Amino acid sequence: MRADGAEDLHCLADVERAAAAVLPTAVRDFVAGGSGAEVTRDANRAALDRVFVVPRVLRDVSRCATGTTLLGRPARLPLAVAPVAYQRLVHPEGELAAARAAQAAGVPFTASTLSSVPVERLTAVGGSVWFQLYWLREPGRSLDLVRRAEDAGAEAIMLTVDVPWMGRRLRDVRNRFALPDHVRAAHLAAGPTAAHRPPPSGASGAASALDAHTEATFSPALTWSSVAALRERTRLPLVLKGILAAEDARRAVECGVDAVVVSNHGGRQLDGALPSVDALPEVVAASAGGCEILLDSGVRSGTDVLRALALGASGVLVGRPALWGLAVGGEGGVRRVLDLLAAEFRDALGLAGCADVAAARELRTVRRA
Ligand SMILES: Cc1cc2nc3c(=O)[nH]c(=O)nc-3n(C[C@H](O)[C@H](O)[C@H](O)COP(=O)(O)O)c2cc1C
Repeated sequence: MRADGAEDLHCLADVERAAAAVLPTAVRDFVAGGSGAEVTRDANRAALDRVFVVPRVLRDVSRCATGTTLLGRPARLPLAVAPVAYQRLVHPEGELAAARAAQAAGVPFTASTLSSVPVERLTAVGGSVWFQLYWLREPGRSLDLVRRAEDAGAEAIMLTVDVPWMGRRLRDVRNRFALPDHVRAAHLAAGPTAAHRPPPSGASGAASALDAHTEATFSPALTWSSVAALRERTRLPLVLKGILAAEDARRAVECGVDAVVVSNHGGRQLDGALPSVDALPEVVAASAGGCEILLDSGVRSGTDVLRALALGASGVLVGRPALWGLAVGGEGGVRRVLDLLAAEFRDALGLAGCADVAAARELRTVRRA
């Protein structure tokens, strides 16, 4: 395989297969896994495949522009890299390589609270970096993290609202998954370490070492008043990630949120939660243009991006595919994933008779059972 991992990688499924071949089983499972019986994880894909786009014709697509704005800033695609924890698990450069690839591809990179590389090193790459915030048990520490991200030059704060604690990810439980010593949460003082191993009895309710760390660190008491406090505290665009209900989208708009991510965390939180693409139309209607709508969970191709736009989204996030690319070829591997998505999206746009992203948002869709 070439250094950039591009050989024989013609779609994201190829990259997934190549990553599976190089990752240790427990890491592969940590990336791939969902919670519970993984019903929602799998349903995300099935739901996207049920969305059919009605293409338009005879509309001069000789110049097909994939560019757009996300949170008010130009992006080369209606796509951003989702926040994904502990990327040094799959490649020594971790988030740094992924942020470089995103910068080269002209799309935003979201740094997780649980990034294994500090946000300052990621913003130093020079691309557009968003900072994902988990609400910590001490709210003051959450706000300190916001200040740190702002000082580093992050361009948005994305509060994840679907993790009062971690969903039960049975693959990690069965593999007794724990982080190796060289991978740490760069923004948190401690852990997850051996100290966070769940007791053998499972008495704490925590299912794995990561789960125990999350339980000790994240606040399950997050409410709309925390969102209001955050809105007061930062002038950066504020994004809520993990919205599926129309009522919550309405509330987000009332709170002055700039965007919501319609997401079920890639099927890693509530198993049995609605596939995010099925929630999208209601969220779009409820927000009534009051904020941008992004979608994630299961996006794997340019066609999926087109589907999301046709259903009213402003753009999408991709999580696991970036990690597959990272595992396969570091920065070059992530770049390959983003280049494939760009080429596929341009192809889908033109074949649907759309010369630009705005036209894609006018397309009609039909849902087949
Ligand atoms: C290994 C892994 C780690 C993740 N870590 C975070 C995180 O730290 N913060 C967060 O908000 N979401 C996290 N997510 C969820 C992603 O941001 C995103 O919602 C999800 O991966 C989208 O689905 P996809 O992987 O099918 O594209 C993680 C997902 C994976 C697979």
